[in-house]
Amino acid sequence: MRVVILRSNRQAAQAVARLIALAVRRAPDLVLGLPTGRTSIPVYDALADWHRRRRVDFSRVTTFNLDEFAGLERDDPRSYRAFMQQHLFNRINVRASNVHIPNGAARNWRREVDAYEAALRRVGGLDVCFVGVGRNGHLGFNEPAAALEARTHLARLRPETRRANAHLFNGRWRRVPTYALSMGIGTILNARAVVLLATGPEKAGVIDRAITGPVTPRLPASLLQVHPNVVVVLDRDAARRLKV
Ligand code: GLP
Repeated sequence: MRVVILRSNRQAAQAVARLIALAVRRAPDLVLGLPTGRTSIPVYDALADWHRRRRVDFSRVTTFNLDEFAGLERDDPRSYRAFMQQHLFNRINVRASNVHIPNGAARNWRREVDAYEAALRRVGGLDVCFVGVGRNGHLGFNEPAAALEARTHLARLRPETRRANAHLFNGRWRRVPTYALSMGIGTILNARAVVLLATGPEKAGVIDRAITGPVTPRLPASLLQVHPNVVVVLDRDAARRLKV
């Protein structure tokens, strides 16, 4: 794993945006995996900036989001779809038909997850997957467990994850859906490159365990250790417990 430690949250986010922007410049038809979460917002701000200054063109890029809450309509303001529209898609020139987010409102979730995997296969898989990490080590909504699902699936969210998402639901964590559709750990690890961004002191513990601890489904982010092309970008706070 390549670990890059930068002074501030802002610098770390800008470094990730730069990696993505330069990858798009090199391969304009890049297939990108994208996360939600507060950590990703400054990255999306910086990418919007790259685009505004006409330094990168997203018109041929295809995106696949990692996850979506089950039971929310696509125009629900609390959905990850709405988050993505607000923070990124409305601000760059990606084509709506190239944007993929699991449909949380799908009645037949089995069909939805299969269709998601099929759409990804059709474009040849993810080139670059940008991910954040939950404080409990989750990637997307792959929660710590005795065993993980490889492919896109219906995931049950743990209480701590629902609490971490409570800000989207007026601070009421019990209103956060109990289920979500999430890419599987295999879907993420099949990406040609993975970029993990973690910032802030609340991620310091999980970052140390994910990078230097054993590879275990009890900490899904630790599985990134088996991937040949991972860049971990951290600010000082998130790196402060790192034992390497
Ligand atoms: C959410 C998302 C994850 C994200 C994580 C971290 O639950 N499903 O994909 O990485 O939380 O969020 P934050 O950046 O707000 O800490």
